[in-house]
Parts: sequence; structure tokens; C-alpha cells
Amino acid sequence: MSNDAQYVMAIDQGTTSSRAIIFDHSGDILSVGQLEHEQIFPQPGWVEHDAGEIWANVREAVGQALARAQINRHQLAAVGITNQRETTVVWDRHTGEPIHHAIVWQDTRTQEICDRLAADGGVERYRSRTGLPLSSYFAGPKVTWILENVPGARERAEAGDLLMGTMDTWVLWNMTGGVDGGVHLTDVTNASRTLLMDLRTLAWDPQICTDLGIPLSMLPQIRSSAEVYGKGRPNGLLVDTPIAGILGDQQAATFGQACFEKGSAKNTYGTGCFLLMNTGTEPVFSDNGLLTTVGYKIGDRPTHYALEGSIAVAGSLVQWLRDNLRMFDSSAEVETLALEVQDNGGAYLVPAFSGLFAPYWRPEARGALVGLTRFVNRNHIARAVLESTAYQTRDVVRAMFADSGVELTSLKVDGGMVANRTLMQFQADILDVPVVRPKVAETTALGAAYAAGIAVGYWAGEEDVVANWQEGERWTPSMDATERERLYRCWQKAVTRTFDWLD
Ligand code: G3P
Repeated sequence: MSNDAQYVMAIDQGTTSSRAIIFDHSGDILSVGQLEHEQIFPQPGWVEHDAGEIWANVREAVGQALARAQINRHQLAAVGITNQRETTVVWDRHTGEPIHHAIVWQDTRTQEICDRLAADGGVERYRSRTGLPLSSYFAGPKVTWILENVPGARERAEAGDLLMGTMDTWVLWNMTGGVDGGVHLTDVTNASRTLLMDLRTLAWDPQICTDLGIPLSMLPQIRSSAEVYGKGRPNGLLVDTPIAGILGDQQAATFGQACFEKGSAKNTYGTGCFLLMNTGTEPVFSDNGLLTTVGYKIGDRPTHYALEGSIAVAGSLVQWLRDNLRMFDSSAEVETLALEVQDNGGAYLVPAFSGLFAPYWRPEARGALVGLTRFVNRNHIARAVLESTAYQTRDVVRAMFADSGVELTSLKVDGGMVANRTLMQFQADILDVPVVRPKVAETTALGAAYAAGIAVGYWAGEEDVVANWQEGERWTPSMDATERERLYRCWQKAVTRTFDWLD
């Protein structure tokens, strides 16, 4: 590491945008570059991204961040990558061209493939090996879909001409030179979201790959979350800068929130909402609709596992009100609208847009707005929209307790929606525990920066992450218990109204 190297950069390739953030040694932000990419909805239930656009945006965001901080790449000790997980791209290793748009984690087109696989052994068929139920959420079935639906893809894959990757892998391969020797690998946290990796051996499971018709030759190598994977190359990005950390975005946030103790947990309110609890160095398998996933692995140190409650729709519900219903122009207005009323007026909105994820796993569910009377107005609906994220979080917290026996005493939160104080207060009320936001709320990017910085010795280890973590704001529960339980009972009833919707 040169003496000039005073900062670490994280690239956060998210569901709606790609960002580059530069951090200093205290974990404070120096600058941010950010570009949104197009959300492509070819038909109901399908969601795609243009991987070429994403790579161009990553380059641009990195340029913006360096320019705004007025530094150059020599001042970066390392760069870490974090990403929307499960979103999958398949490309030609000789041309670097994707053979299809990336299929996004929310996309439900692979349900038929999952049903076909579940016909022999049910949806829990691979749970004991992968920690996951069979679901359209995960990357593996998305690869199967591409190989079965893009003309000639299977032959090209079998001939060794195609590569697959989640977005970390796509960004890394391009940064390290692409067709000119790009490094093709992923980290254990991203690999644990494919449905193809054995959680204990941290290797691809050949039998599952065969069942899904995926040639092993197209899969990236699996590495730890913190080690030097390669350096930026001239026809890539950030020439000679070590790329030294990769974590899926939710695991990165868990790391950035310093959840290193067994039982410590965080909830990130982004496009979706994801609650992860560190369960230590042994995987804990869920009986209550949670996922078992890799939390992080620093170099050759032991793997930490996590239980995860994945909620598919949180912030994207606010975007839906803005873009599809045109209820307001900017997402922040949802709070203004909600604050004009005392309560939800009896309305509940269950956003089962991709079916329901944790803890229900009901792919056939579809969204519902219930409890309507002539009294309900758009303010009540704005309120119901915010409340739905808090109720879904309580659903997951209940499951977490049932699986782990660990009672939550407070909840660390982060992500875009924590700016919404009305939601955060309601979250504390409906959970009946304090909700705490750190001073630096960009914990996803920070977690990836920490992993990369630890790998190159810029930070000593997790103890530096703990030392840097500072409380920013705290919301304390103040709701009457009877009211809390009444609201939650109504929510649970509303959830059942979304089931069995598809024929
Ligand atoms: O599993 C999907 C998740 O990684 C997406 O995160 O922050 O883009 O909603 P986010």
C-alpha cells in the first residue's frame, strides 16, 4: 500500500442505481457518485436490467466520486464491491456481450422451473444443502431459464463459451479487463444466493447444477469476502487498484453495522427490506420461513452465517405509488401525505408484487389493498404503504425469534427509507423495541469498503469497524400495547387475503 493511499472506495451496484462512495479511515464519507439505470418490465412479474448500461454507469459513478473528492486512484488503498444479490447475467466470454438482459431478483418468470424441480422432493428439496427453499428469487433458476430460452445458449454454454455471474462478478470481470483476461469469481455471500452452493463446503454442488442443467464451466470461482481478487486493468477500471472485498449488499450492511456477535441483527430498508441476524460459525436452519445464508468470511478465517428474513417490496412500493399511480412526484412526499392523518383509516396494503417472500414464501400471492370504506383517502393509503414495511418486518422478527430463540432488544436500521422518521417511529411502536440508526447510514457501501480495507491492512480488522460505529438517531416505542396488537392482527388478516390469487 503506497503512502498516498488514504481512502477506500466501495462500488454499490444496487437494484435501482450504481454508486461509488469514497470513505476515509474513520468510515466517514468523502464523496459519492451515483447513476440510476432503467427498470425493464417486459410483462407482469418480469423485471430486467441492461448489464451493459450498468457497467457504463459503474464507470461513470467511479469517475464522479473521484472528481468530487478531488483525488485520484493512487489515493485509494483498495476498492470493494457490493451488489444487489441474485440478479443474474450470462455473457459471451469472447465478446463480453450479455446474451440476454440480466434477470432481476424480483423477477418471477422461473416459477415454472421451480415447480418442475419441486415435483421431485418439494420446495424444501435443497434446503439442507443450500439453506434455501426452491424459489424464483434465487440466481440458479434464472440461469436455467436463459439456457432454455435464448436460442443456441445451451450449446454455447456446453462449449465453454458462456459465463454467468451475479452483478459483483459482472463488475469485477469488466474492471479486471473483461475479454482481455478478466477475473471470473464471486464471493461466498453472493454464491450462497444462487441455490447452487453447498453452505458447509462453500463449493458448487455438482448434483444441483446437474438438476438445473447448468454446466460448471460457466460458474465463477468462489472466494472469501475479503482478499485481493485482482487489480483494475487499463481496459477495465481503476488501473492497479486492488479489488479486495465483495459482499452481497445485505451482508455488506450487516458487516458495516458491526453485527459481529452471535444474535446481533440489522434491517435494511431499500427496494426491498432485509433483516439479517448473525448466527455465528455454524449455519442455523430455519423452520419458520427464513433463509440460511453466508454472513461473511474474511480471508481464510471461519465463515459466519446468518438467518435472513427477505421482504421483496418496501421502498419499491413507494416508487410504485409515484410512478404507476402518480400519487406524488418525489418519494419523500409519501411521508408528508401520511402525516396529514392520525392513522391508516382501516386500510392495509399488502405488496405481494412478486408473491410473498419471508416468512410466507407464497409465489402465487398477489398484492391487495383491503379494509376500504368511503372514508379512506390518499393520505390513509400513503400511511398504509409505510406501515406495510413495518408489519412485514414484525412478521420476520417473529420468525427470527422462533428459529433462534434470541429476543430482539433493539434493531439497527439503515437504507434509504430510514430518512422517513414516521416509518421509523411506527417501526419501533409495532415491534415494541427501540430502533437505532448509525451516524453513517450508508452501511452497505461501508461494509464492502471495510472488507476491502481489512484485506489490504488499511483497517486492522472487525475491531476497527466496531470502534467506528456511532449511534446517529434512536426511536423509542410509545404505542399502547392493545392498539399495537389490534393493528398487527388486522395486518395478519390482510396478508391472508393475498393468498391463492393465481389460478
Ligand atoms: O436480495 C436482493 C437485495 O440484495 C436487493 O437489495 O438494496 O437493492 O433492495 P436492494
